[in-house]
Amino acid sequence: MALYSEKVMDHFRNPRNIGIIEDADGIGEVGNAKCGDIMKIYLKIEDDVVTDVKFETFGCGSAIASSSMATELIKGKPVSEALELSNKAVAEALDGLPAHKMHCSVLAEAAIRNAVKDYFDRNGITYDPELFPEVEEDH
Ligand code: FES
Repeated sequence: MALYSEKVMDHFRNPRNIGIIEDADGIGEVGNAKCGDIMKIYLKIEDDVVTDVKFETFGCGSAIASSSMATELIKGKPVSEALELSNKAVAEALDGLPAHKMHCSVLAEAAIRNAVKDYFDRNGITYDPELFPEVEEDH
C-alpha cells in the first residue's frame, strides 16, 4: 500500500480553502514545537454557523492535507460541530494517515478549536474552559 492515500495526495496537491479571511470572526493558530510546523485557521461565523473558513499552513504535506480536509468538514456546519471535529475524523476522511503523521491532523483539530475559542472570547460568549484542554504535542 502506498504511504499516502489518494485523498491525502489530492488535498496536498489541490488544497481547498487556502488563504486568509480579512474580517474573520475567529482566528486560531497552533504550532508543533518538535517539527516546527504552524497552522492558522480563519473562521467567518453567522448565526452560529461557519459560513466560511480559510487556512494557512506552513508545514508538511500531511498538515496541508489535514487543514484542507478539516476546513471542508466544518464549512457550513454549526459552531458546535466544528468544535467537535476530532483529528481522527480528519484522518479518516483522508482515508488514513501513517501513524507517525497523525500528529499533523492534531494541528488541524487544535487550530479550529482555538479559532472557535477566539470567536467566543471576542463576542463575550461564556463557555466551559474544559472544552479547550491543552493539546499534547506528540510525535
Ligand atoms: Fe509536523 Fe506534519 S510533520 S505537522
